[in-house]
Amino acid sequence: MPTTTFETPEKYEYQNGFDSYHETEAVKGALPIAANSPQKPPYGLYAEKLSGTSFTAPRHENKQSWLYRILPAAAHEPFEPRESSSFTTNSENKPHDKFQQIPNQLRWDPFDLDEKVDWVNSLHLVAGAGDPTIKSGIGVFIFAAGRSMDEHEAFYSADGDFLIVLQHGVLDIVTEFGNLLVRPNEITVIPRGIRYRISLPAGPVRGYVLELYQGHFRLPELGPIGSNCLANARDFQVPVAAFEEDTSTTWHILAKFNGRLFSAKQDHSPFDVVAWHGLYYPYKYDLGRFNTIGSISYDHPDPSIFTVLTAPSDHGGTAVADFVIFPPRWLVQEDTFRPPWYHRNTMSEFMGLIHGQYDAKMAGGFQPAGASLHNVMSAHGPDAATFEKASTVELTPARVGEGSMAFMFESCLMVGVTDWGLQKCSKVQEDYNAESWIPLRPRFKRPGN
Ligand SMILES: [Fe+2]
Repeated sequence: MPTTTFETPEKYEYQNGFDSYHETEAVKGALPIAANSPQKPPYGLYAEKLSGTSFTAPRHENKQSWLYRILPAAAHEPFEPRESSSFTTNSENKPHDKFQQIPNQLRWDPFDLDEKVDWVNSLHLVAGAGDPTIKSGIGVFIFAAGRSMDEHEAFYSADGDFLIVLQHGVLDIVTEFGNLLVRPNEITVIPRGIRYRISLPAGPVRGYVLELYQGHFRLPELGPIGSNCLANARDFQVPVAAFEEDTSTTWHILAKFNGRLFSAKQDHSPFDVVAWHGLYYPYKYDLGRFNTIGSISYDHPDPSIFTVLTAPSDHGGTAVADFVIFPPRWLVQEDTFRPPWYHRNTMSEFMGLIHGQYDAKMAGGFQPAGASLHNVMSAHGPDAATFEKASTVELTPARVGEGSMAFMFESCLMVGVTDWGLQKCSKVQEDYNAESWIPLRPRFKRPGN
């Protein structure tokens, strides 16, 4: 079966379907029939609406959910700011002042595990563009945590949707909508505003987050490919309703709000949604289920052929963020330089590696838990060793990327890098160009010589 073989077995149930209208109830009869907000919802529950788009968004974009819960989300004390030193999604509470836009190609050694912190304090903003206050742009985070969140804490981001690419460990996520178990080679998306708590059943975790400040992820158009392939809608897994009945414990709700952290107390669990229905919910996807398309004659298509999810800008075909993967696959093209060509891209490309070895970089500097950034119009391509091999190898059908999963956050925006990403993390490889492209030698010979 085209699925990932996970070390950690699944422990939750799901409903299947991307962008499907789902409904689920943990107690039979908790969902009202037809009416969304009856005078008396079943079993004394409160009805609450969660909007993922404006009410009047076009029908094909409209995302709303109705939650039926023990107490409304509003039942909490006022939010208070948390000191910035405990939270690293901004630098000194100036999340967008410190970005540096530079044309250099950047590559990072693997980011360290950090066993001292939990999910909320593990998030390091490394790169980004735009501004959550005007719902425009993206943020890229590296996370490394070794502790579960406190038992009575929940977190949400008002800034954007979190696309979490786990590289190491296991995430056990309780959300208002139910539970998700996420293992390496699975991704999860937790949309703006949804409250969740992450525990770490298999020890330390590490990975990457793409936060989308505008709109939501959707499946890419398929054009002449037709009605199936790439990421198929039925393979996205959505939680079923699950709830805690706890109205006597002090909980802390942590909010990421314009890159700053706020905290509010309440005396009941936020995970008290007994039933819900709608189009706005968290989900996960096993990258092992991706149906990979490629050339069966010559050349290879643009890497957009590997897009799992996309977040379109206002301009058709241009994405604020594409989430692209490079799965194990067969290369069979004849008379073709099979690795990616040398290129300069109007888009910025932030890459990471979940496991294995990426087939365009043989020299070993791009490692699991590391990263690279090729910004707008920054030239890049195969390193010298990869070029040499690919231009001389006998072209038989070849399997590449076995046991590997590289990915890319590609954006139409020029991406800036934070002080943490450039300096404080101490992972930038100073010899990236010297190793990769400076060794390339001229091969040009005039005809007749
Ligand atoms: Fe590229």
